[in-house]
Amino acid sequence: MKKLLTTVAMLFMLNACSGQQADTQADPVNISSLGQSEITAVRAADAMPTYPNRGKSIERTFVHQPPLIPHKAEYPINMKKNSCMNCHSPAKAKRMKATEIDASHLLADSKLNKHYYNCSQCHVPQADNKQQLIENDFSNK
Ligand code: HEC
Ligand code: HEC
Repeated sequence: MKKLLTTVAMLFMLNACSGQQADTQADPVNISSLGQSEITAVRAADAMPTYPNRGKSIERTFVHQPPLIPHKAEYPINMKKNSCMNCHSPAKAKRMKATEIDASHLLADSKLNKHYYNCSQCHVPQADNKQQLIENDFSNK
């Protein structure tokens, strides 16, 4: 039962996210627990995002924008360690050929301000196989 409900929820989510993609015809799914409902609009899932191992700084779109991460971001940030700091801390950045974290992220003693500990809260990676999800006419001009 639980499994069935999860499947139903996932199908609904897929449907809700389908955006501009054309629906493909598929065999109807019969959900007997919901009466005679049929889900006919199903489509294949989008490709999983792939991220570059390394990349060059991406131009910012507006002033004070947290720069996008031009590389994969699967570096652990947890209670014990912040792997991003292995390359971006002021002490290591030059050697790792990475940009030093912004001065705003540092306390007066040059230690990382813990308010900025969770890097991925503001910085997001950009996939190679990026797909436009919704139309966007944002302009910084
Ligand atoms: C193995 C070293 C390494 C690690 C670990 C690493 N980075 Fe990077 N990062 C780089 C390099 C090299 C660049 C490209 C040069 C640059 O623009 O800083 C870069 C670029 C960036 C940029 C773009 C800077 C700009 O001004 O455009 C951001 C933001 C960034 N990384 C955030 C992160 C975050 C967040 C993490 C942890 C999830 C992380 N990095 C982990 C090496 C690393
Ligand atoms: C609360 C949001 C926030 C968090 C958390 C955060 N940053 Fe940033 N970061 C920013 C913003 C905003 C900027 C751009 C600053 C500006 O241009 O005024 C920035 C700039 C940077 C830059 C570019 C600096 C430069 O001189 O071009 C790097 C690299 C960076 N952050 C890395 C990190 C790393 C690594 C972490 C985690 C240890 C982190 N950031 C956590 C918001 C954040």
